[in-house]
Amino acid sequence: MSIKVMSIFGTRPEAIKMAPVIKTLERDPRFQSRVVVSGQHRDMLDQVLNFFKITPDFDLNIMKKKQSLSEMTTHIIDKLTPVLEANMPDVVLVHGDTTTTLAAALTAYYLKIPIGHVESGLRTWNKYSPFPEEVNRQLVDALSDICFAPTKESAVNLIKENHRQEQVFVTGNTAIDAMTYTIDKKYTHPNLSNEGKKRLLVTMHRRENLGQPMIEVFKALAQIAKEKDDVEIIFPMHKNPLVRELAEKELGNLKNIQLIEPLDLFDFHNFAQHSDLILTDSGGVQEEAPSLGIPVLVLRDTTERPEGIKAGTLKLVGTNQATVYQETMRLLEDPIAYQKMSEATNPYGDGHASERIADILAQSFNDF
Ligand code: UD1
Ligand code: UDP
Repeated sequence: MSIKVMSIFGTRPEAIKMAPVIKTLERDPRFQSRVVVSGQHRDMLDQVLNFFKITPDFDLNIMKKKQSLSEMTTHIIDKLTPVLEANMPDVVLVHGDTTTTLAAALTAYYLKIPIGHVESGLRTWNKYSPFPEEVNRQLVDALSDICFAPTKESAVNLIKENHRQEQVFVTGNTAIDAMTYTIDKKYTHPNLSNEGKKRLLVTMHRRENLGQPMIEVFKALAQIAKEKDDVEIIFPMHKNPLVRELAEKELGNLKNIQLIEPLDLFDFHNFAQHSDLILTDSGGVQEEAPSLGIPVLVLRDTTERPEGIKAGTLKLVGTNQATVYQETMRLLEDPIAYQKMSEATNPYGDGHASERIADILAQSFNDF
């Protein structure tokens, strides 16, 4: 009999990193795959579902504008409970550290359904950075029966927290699997036609950066754009209205800054490939850039991705205006510093994490 796997997710990054797993489960006769989306990110989630041609079996459709964390959590639990009760899968798969991840894992736990956590074991051990993701992922790991750690470092974190060795598996990160669907060496796009300019790709959305930290970064970008004619900044704005209001105020109407809508995954990965430098507070982008050899200045005070720092592609710079300005200018103007950060390495996997997850699920299942 096939194993009933229900994958539950709701934001853009979860969808991107669960899509390769779902595609793998769909073609494997050992599994019956079902997909539930919370709809936490209505627009950005649907972009990813369309790209991967995934049609959810259940859509909880919980997004509201400027939603609070507690409102989202309770909505998801309320709407997911009857779906799980009616279907009682053999195992639920959740990903990462969002509100959807925690609420879905908790709902499954209340119904005593086994839980597999994809991208398990990432830690900063700082409960407010990133907020609320650090606590979300610690709680989800505590609730999980199988922990799919993307790297050895994340597996070690889990063992240190007394997770049993036989529950913890190193699989690689499914973000790298997703790149096997998108990266196109012959890619072109009208927004990338400015030959001869240095291209900076920027994303920013973290809750702890909303307000003053974001304003400081935007002021640094505006300063660079005004001073350097040979630089072009592309900023696909997150759908969060709080991000968009600030970006439009600080960066609108500058001739070498493109404020654009969130890019489809296919476009974003290929824009990244054609960039000289990335500035971001995103988690996923920190995993993708090292395999492309594109230096990343991380606009955060902490990171749960030490592998990319060790590999030399990522540098933590925080959000102070003067620091962001100086670090960016250094990479734009010092070819040796740039060269040092632009070696392509891939600490996050070989693009086959999804197959490993499927095999581990098939083997582990008899233990439950
Ligand atoms: C969430 C995750 C974060 C992840 C990020 C990825 C939580 C607590 N945080 O943060 O871990 O890094 O997603 O992007 O789960 N909105 C739209 N349309 C969309 C998406 C968002 O309008 O498609 C707006 C809504 O007004 C929403 C706001 O953006 O209220 C913020 O979205 P939310 O899901 O609450 O948190 P994020 O900050 O995006
Ligand atoms: N991404 C995208 N379009 C964009 C910006 C980002 O498809 O305009 C992708 C990016 O390649 C990465 C993921 O979105 O895979 C990261 O999502 P986000 O930064 O929203 O969340 P985080 O990774 O910080 O949780």
